[in-house]
Amino acid sequence: MRPLLIATLSLLASLAWAEEPWGTVDLQAAKPLHDKACTGCHIRMYGGDGSKMYTRDGSMLSNKLELLQRVAACSSQVSSGWFPEDESNVAAWLNKHYYHFDK
Ligand code: HEC
Repeated sequence: MRPLLIATLSLLASLAWAEEPWGTVDLQAAKPLHDKACTGCHIRMYGGDGSKMYTRDGSMLSNKLELLQRVAACSSQVSSGWFPEDESNVAAWLNKHYYHFDK
């Protein structure tokens, strides 16, 4: 019985991975990272708290993977010094609050 259980669990894990390009995340860690490194330009462009960047018409993003890639691109552009897990945390946090992509 046990090998079957393990096979089933690892299949489920790989399916979950396919849907979540960022894997396991820490959403609590995301907001301070985001607010420190990511609001400057976006506020300059859109005013307010800059979040209109994420809700604007004609957003360049259509799924989680593109969101993660965009976060990574902006992060490296500004030499944030973030690790990949920081990018994952912020991408997942942006998805939860603004983008709401299912996949
Ligand atoms: C140096 C200025 C600058 C900083 C700092 C910056 N961004 Fe951006 N960001 C941009 C610009 C410019 C665009 C729009 C690019 C375009 O329209 O082609 C953008 C677009 C985005 C988008 C896509 C918006 C959409 O839905 O179309 C996301 C997500 C994003 N940035 C995340 C981040 C994150 C996360 C950080 C912090 C690591 C960050 N940005 C820091 C300039 C910046």
